[in-house]
Amino acid sequence: MGEFSGQVALITGAASGIGLSIAHKLLAEGARVGLLDFNEAALQNAFASYGSSALLIGIDVTDEELVLEAVTRVHDQFGQIDCLINCVGITGITNVQSHEVSSENLHKVFEVNFMSSFYTSKAVLPFMLARNYGRILHIASIAGKEGNAGMLAYSTSKAAVICMAKVQGKEYAERGITVNALAPAVIQTPLVDAMPEVQVKYMTDKIPMKRCGTLEEAANLATYIVSPKNSFTTGFTFDLSGGRATY
Ligand SMILES: NC(=O)c1ccc[n+]([C@@H]2O[C@H](COP(=O)([O-])OP(=O)(O)OC[C@H]3O[C@@H](n4cnc5c(N)ncnc54)[C@H](O)[C@@H]3O)[C@@H](O)[C@H]2O)c1
Repeated sequence: MGEFSGQVALITGAASGIGLSIAHKLLAEGARVGLLDFNEAALQNAFASYGSSALLIGIDVTDEELVLEAVTRVHDQFGQIDCLINCVGITGITNVQSHEVSSENLHKVFEVNFMSSFYTSKAVLPFMLARNYGRILHIASIAGKEGNAGMLAYSTSKAAVICMAKVQGKEYAERGITVNALAPAVIQTPLVDAMPEVQVKYMTDKIPMKRCGTLEEAANLATYIVSPKNSFTTGFTFDLSGGRATY
């Protein structure tokens, strides 16, 4: 019997990186999962072997209607939703100063990083409220606390995610539902691989431990945050930055 036996988790961005490792860990701990990502082939590759314990849904999470349909499918299949973990995220164009930022790209980054997390939380909350239990985790970023130069779109969208966790944490505090964020520094994933080397160096140079975080470290902290044990912390942004942020 794993720690998540009998529980159902919905994870976005589960086809790669942090979302993928959280999904594997929750499945290993006994959860049944609904996994959303527009890379359906990668979802199939990674999770088809789990059979009916993993419902794989290939959608773009910036489409509110598709998100609502997907959340309803997960609830219909498993009968409940205990945890939501929002891992979808893009950096957009980086290594550009604010006067060079494309408004279109900034809108796109907000759609993916902030609006999608709003859509998924809006869709799962009624199911959580009906049972007076829920754990929501929005994956934010150290960039949202510190404001990384060259990353206006990414940093501000993650600051919005951090604030959403604060608002939602307070709103549902008396209903058995905790809502938190997690702010990693650099974890080596395809998202980081796709960034300009100079931007990655800027971020890693600021980490006092002088190394990147690992996927295992990210999954360990994330699964604690969405576990029943994490019952007296809400609206909080957990740190995963090797000492870069000490607040
Ligand atoms: N890797 C890091 O160093 C780091 C640091 C801080 C925060 N984060 C955050 O952690 C989260 C996960 O990052 P990662 O490094 O694992 O990224 P990743 O690129 O490895 O994975 C992101 C996943 O999201 C999916 N996705 C992107 N846009 C989508 C959309 N519109 N609809 C559906 N699926 C979509 C991709 O297909 C991919 O599978 C992101 O929110 C990211 O901003 C990452």
